[in-house]
Amino acid sequence: MSHVPELEKIPADVVNLADYTTHARERLDDNAWAYFSGAAADELTLQANRTAWDQLHLYPRVLRALTGGHTRQTLLGRTLDHPILLAPVAFQRMAHPDGELGTAYAAAAQGAGLVLSTQASTSLEHIAQAILKDEGRGPLWFQLYLQHDKVFTQELVQRAEAAGYEALVVTVDAPASGARDRERRANFKLPPGISAVNLAGLPNPPTASLSPGQSTMFDGLLTTAPTWSDIAWLQSITRLPILLKGILHEDDARQAAQLGVAGLIVSNHGGRTLDTAIPTAWALPRIAQAVGPDLPLLVDGGIRRGTDVLKAIALGAHAVLIGRPYVHALATAGALGVAHVIRLLRDELEIAMALTGCATLQGITPAVLFQRP
Ligand code: FNR
Ligand code: LAC
Repeated sequence: MSHVPELEKIPADVVNLADYTTHARERLDDNAWAYFSGAAADELTLQANRTAWDQLHLYPRVLRALTGGHTRQTLLGRTLDHPILLAPVAFQRMAHPDGELGTAYAAAAQGAGLVLSTQASTSLEHIAQAILKDEGRGPLWFQLYLQHDKVFTQELVQRAEAAGYEALVVTVDAPASGARDRERRANFKLPPGISAVNLAGLPNPPTASLSPGQSTMFDGLLTTAPTWSDIAWLQSITRLPILLKGILHEDDARQAAQLGVAGLIVSNHGGRTLDTAIPTAWALPRIAQAVGPDLPLLVDGGIRRGTDVLKAIALGAHAVLIGRPYVHALATAGALGVAHVIRLLRDELEIAMALTGCATLQGITPAVLFQRP
């Protein structure tokens, strides 16, 4: 698979991120739609993520001089042109034949950071080779699910290091996947030819040998699920900075900071794991306060507008990630769609900064948020 993705057309009626969701619904079959758009159970956290950003109101400032403004941000020792990264999303070849490769080219072209999923449907080496030499690209990180087999996990980490990934994003909020009602209703299955290729060769999990009456959760999955000591273990076997993704509680944030992780991603997995978990916009300021301004802090979940990005920065995030919007764009218009989504969001962020009187991300403070009396 060495082809460069073909450029498709952006539909003429697309002016924002949500428009791509409308198009993706028309293009994806019910199976893929249930996977890429669904969330856990009643999808209340999925909705709450959005509502929480919407319910924050901005307090505009006028007539400030904003010349020389920019959206640059420093993250793990690199300067990014803007604070928008693409969240890890599994199995992208189910959205478009170019899959993760299309996404990677788009991220690189737009200077956006890219987090490749452990469950990507394209090899991690292939993605790194495609964009590593692109000078304008953003950071390239590997999302790691710690596997029940430590030897396999260590080899996966070594592959990511050798391929040139610059950080590991360890997702900690999904020791079990959520109760995915929408997927079950659609009888979701991975289509033939699409699989988690980077996990090929992983030995069977312990759930394979349960006796009747045993719990697949407590006697199976959770007997090998990662714990804090595995994070310390991971730190001992890699030179890469480690970020934890899926932190919502300030005590977990403190514990992670004490372990010396390189950063945190405030996330509820886009509402796909624990339904009714709090929206990320509520968790973010509490965590920012718990860990202080120096630990790199990112957030995802329901970010669809430049104003959402501005609000996230105001609440203490250094950068944000988007998930579904870019996958919907990938399904609609391939790499070009993904690039367009990043550009749209960045343009909206610049508009929001201009209209709140913020010349730089560093100048965005909680004062841009109206506190109701
Ligand atoms: C995800 N997410 C995810 N996270 C992760 O750490 N590893 C993964 O493989 C996946 N896979 C995945 C698949 C799909 C279809 C979705 C929608 C999400 C979660 C993702 O990284 C991110 O946290 C959320 O998608 C952010 O929320 P929004 O932007 O989709 O609302
Ligand atoms: C998901 C897993 C792959 O959310 O993280 O589908």
